[in-house]
Order: sequence, then structure tokens, then C-alpha cells
Amino acid sequence: MDVKPAEPPLGMLAELTHRCPLHCSYCSNPIELITRDGELDTAQWLSVLSQARDLGVLQVHMSGGEPLARPDLPELVSHASDLGCYVNLVTSGLGLTEKRLDDLADRGLAHIQLSVQGADAERADRLAGTRAHEHKLAAAALIKRSGLPLSVNVVLHKQNHDQLAGIIALAERMGADRLELANTQYYGWALKNRTALMPTREQLAVAEPIVRAATERLRGTMEIIYVVADYYEPYPKPCMYGWGARQLTVAPNGDVLPCPAATAITTLDLDNVTRKPLHDIWYGSTSFNAYRGEDWMSETCRSCDRRGADFGGCRCQAFLLTGDAASTDPVCSRSPDREIVDLILAAPPPAVEPELVLRRVPR
Ligand code: SF4
Ligand code: FES
Repeated sequence: MDVKPAEPPLGMLAELTHRCPLHCSYCSNPIELITRDGELDTAQWLSVLSQARDLGVLQVHMSGGEPLARPDLPELVSHASDLGCYVNLVTSGLGLTEKRLDDLADRGLAHIQLSVQGADAERADRLAGTRAHEHKLAAAALIKRSGLPLSVNVVLHKQNHDQLAGIIALAERMGADRLELANTQYYGWALKNRTALMPTREQLAVAEPIVRAATERLRGTMEIIYVVADYYEPYPKPCMYGWGARQLTVAPNGDVLPCPAATAITTLDLDNVTRKPLHDIWYGSTSFNAYRGEDWMSETCRSCDRRGADFGGCRCQAFLLTGDAASTDPVCSRSPDREIVDLILAAPPPAVEPELVLRRVPR
């Protein structure tokens, strides 16, 4: 059978470190985090960036954990920018000073994505597991003063959905150019907290008109992206716009992942940039080729008219819920496994609200 060769990747998520000052219960990073001594060193990251550009990558998202925890961040930003990449910093804002920001901007940083946990300090700090909110307000002010475009990212869940209007107002006050309101996706640590984080149907129904009205009102001022709570949807999200299709992730230790959550799929044989060139991994690795195209699909997806729109949904979710990464995403109403999701949603509310299990993260 003819298999269409992969196109070059457009973007790379460079997870520079798993170290992080926050303790978010919805963290999608793996349960087992990589510690400082397992991280790639500066020379290795510089090589990864050069190889990525040679491969065709144009957008580099420097992320973590908290990328500001890496003292070599300025050097990495300079290098990626000199290669001609659009460089985005994904940060909690903790550790961002005027001096560091000016330096990063001078070196070619193009965009900052700042995470926010809630509409006010009391709630946000409780969810972050540390005093973080005031630092985020200060970071947003610095970013606006620098003239860099600012995206605010908020992970939504049962514990902050009631603050949605306040969160939108906060993003406006921060002067965000873009606001991403992303309902929690249940991978990594977030899956541990699913019961405590899963919003109710009522919360989602209340959110919908608030988001719609704000999107209309702020059109041309602040773009709003709303990522739905997919368990409640009839069809899955087009996860990663297809496996190994547009983006790759390099984990702090150099493992190269077809999607940021792919370590969840324990049957995947991951390659590492310290042992193989990025080019060979993108085009030739078993992990990237495992779910490219349509040959891997079950008959349910292969015969479905939506397969070109959602690519069979999310491989990580399929694995985590069914044990088989090649199965149809069980969120899909056409999946033979949809009952798994329906049973989760139909579970009676717990007599006592479960405590959020905050993430313990290496520093
Ligand atoms: Fe998408 Fe597969 Fe469901 Fe069709 S059956 S909607 S391709 S997940
Ligand atoms: Fe990995 Fe969807 S999160 S494929």
C-alpha cells in the first residue's frame, strides 16, 4: 500500500526542563519527571535547534516546566532566532525580571505565553500551590511594556470554571493579545486528579455564552480560543492535527516525542537526539510512523467520513482509556469504547469533594 511520505515539521516544542516553581494539579507532564542531571546541556540543545531548523521547523516553543529555570535560555533564544525561527516562550512568569525580559527581547524572542490559574490571588495561588499570582500580574505588565505580543493561557476545570468571566476580565486588564481558555486534558499528572478537575455539564453550559459574548465583544482586540472539554463532546479533537504531522516535542532528556504527552503510551519505542539525528527520527522512527496516515486505524475510523477532520482523535487518550493507542478515541460517539467515557461522566458526585493532588516538581 502507498504511504504518503511525511511533510517536514512546522513547529517544535522544546521542553527545556521539567523543573518548575508551580505545583499545578492539572499538569500534563509525565508522572515521572526528568531531574536536572538528566537534562540536555547547552551544546546539545544548540544542536537540536540547528537540526530542527534544517528539518524545516519555523516555530520554536521554549517550554517546560519553567524554561526560565535554565540559565542558558538567552543563548538558546539567540540561536533559534538567528536560525530564522519564530521563538515563543511558554512561562509561568515566575523569575521574569525587566532585565531578563529586555535581554531575551534583544536576542529575538518573538512572543510570550503566560499561564494564569484563576481570576484572583486567593484562588490562583491555591491552584498553583504557591504564591504566584502577583508575580504573574507583574510579568504581564513587563511584557506589555516590552512591546512583545502576549498570550494568556488558562487551564479550566471544576475548581475555576466559576471564575471564567473574571478570568476574561483579568486577561483584558493584562492587555493580552490572545487568551487561550483550555479545558483540562487528562494526561500525565492531570489524570490523577480527573475527578477533582472534571467540570460539570452545568458549568460548561454556563461557560458557553460567556465565551461567545466575550469573543464577539473583543473581536479585533483580544482573540479568544476556547478548547472544549472533550469527554462531553460527540467527536474527538483533531489531536496534534495528526500524529507526527506538524510538530515534534523534545523532552528535557532529549527523547523525541510525536506529541507532548506521548510518554503516556508505554508501548512506544522512543528515540533520543543524543543517539540519532532529528531528521532520521522525524522520518524514520517507529514512534513517529506508528500512527501516521490511516493504515493503523481500526475499521471504525478507516470507514468514517470524519477521519480527514479529526484523524481518529487522540492516540494518548485512546491508550490511557483502552490500553490500545490504535483504537478509536473513546470520546467518539462512534467508538465501541464510548461507554468508558460515559461511565466516567455518569459517576455519581463523590460524597466529599476529592482534594486536588498538587504536583511535586524538581527545582
Ligand atoms: Fe473520528 Fe474515528 Fe470517530 Fe470517525 S470514528 S469521528 S474518524 S474518531
Ligand atoms: Fe498525544 Fe493527543 S495528546 S496524541
